Amino acid sequence: MGFESHEERMTEDQPESGAGAGVAVAEENTGETRVFTVGERTFVLDKKKAEEVFAAKKVINGVDTMTFNLLPLKYAWAYELYRNMKANHWEPEDIPMNVDIAQWRSTDQLTDSDRWIIRMGIGYFSAAEGIVGDNILHVIREVVTAPELKLVLGRHAHEENIHADSLLYMISSLGIDPHECEAMFVDVPSIVAKNEFVTQISKDLRRDLDMTQVENIQSLAKNMFVFGQCMEGTQFYGLFGMILSLYRQNKFPGIGQMFRYTLRDESNHIELLRQLLMHLVEENPQIWTNSFKEELVGLMQEAVSLEKKFIEDCLPVKSLGLNREDFEEYIDFIADRRLEGVGLPALNPGVKNPFPWLAETMDIKKEQNFFEGRVTDYQKSQALDPVDDDQL
Ligand SMILES: [Fe+2]
Ligand SMILES: [Fe+2]
Repeated sequence: MGFESHEERMTEDQPESGAGAGVAVAEENTGETRVFTVGERTFVLDKKKAEEVFAAKKVINGVDTMTFNLLPLKYAWAYELYRNMKANHWEPEDIPMNVDIAQWRSTDQLTDSDRWIIRMGIGYFSAAEGIVGDNILHVIREVVTAPELKLVLGRHAHEENIHADSLLYMISSLGIDPHECEAMFVDVPSIVAKNEFVTQISKDLRRDLDMTQVENIQSLAKNMFVFGQCMEGTQFYGLFGMILSLYRQNKFPGIGQMFRYTLRDESNHIELLRQLLMHLVEENPQIWTNSFKEELVGLMQEAVSLEKKFIEDCLPVKSLGLNREDFEEYIDFIADRRLEGVGLPALNPGVKNPFPWLAETMDIKKEQNFFEGRVTDYQKSQALDPVDDDQL
């Protein structure tokens, strides 16, 4: 399944600028000491103690430390992801909304369908971002024991705060009644169904569970799969596609740009939860039974059918450049990619991506001028390549 071996993290120091640069974590064993070099910093650790700490680090049921010992890094990929996420930092106020506001107020620049998609987008994501952040912070991060995993999960939760904040910024800029947004996720049945699907999985773990029991580890694995691959990885993509279709038609440039930033963050979240799941399985192979794998595929199937109902609600009438069947096919395509990413069989092998242009719209790192303006301030010189979820 392509698990990364621990030896792979012991890479030689490498330049930290330019495409493909990574966080260098060099490690050297010299008799009684173990020397770790992380970027420009060097740490000399007692070899015996360092090895004990290293061996005691686990995704779950590892050593319980209150001191947050990041070193020695066992899950170097998590630390790299953390640095990548940090380098991509953005704030909603960096994005001008004046064109969006003018379009929203105009009587001839938008169709009813355009406005409805934006309302559905704001309504759905207002609830969804909070649900994800809460699950990351209060469920997954609580059970996970390795400090570097807690570190990156904390950043994940913070990015959900930024996304939730961006929705407030959109709502206030357009002058949408906030109660209307609340009504969307209480009254639109396809939004209620999508939210219930994930919150149920989250509730299962909100008890003091004995994490040495196979069924409890499976509950955690299910949570990581549902939130990472089904929700963030698949159920977010119907609206992402629709809003970026509007953006492509020069509608809602500010909202479109915020969703592009959000999507870049989501790519990292999907990868984080994919890696976590894979390492959890590697350390607890007894959970990865055929029946459990079938259960996960079944959950993805359920997620896809909920998403298709939601797409029907988003596109109740034919709209320019937005074809419901294409979006449904797109969801099938994305879902299979997520399944394959965790070593599970595709539901619709061979299904094609009906939106090849979307990869380019999502691929913000290739644009020369995209970071002009205030957002550039956040892009650190040591920025890593984002996880390539945008090669759709
Ligand atoms: Fe998010
Ligand atoms: Fe996310």
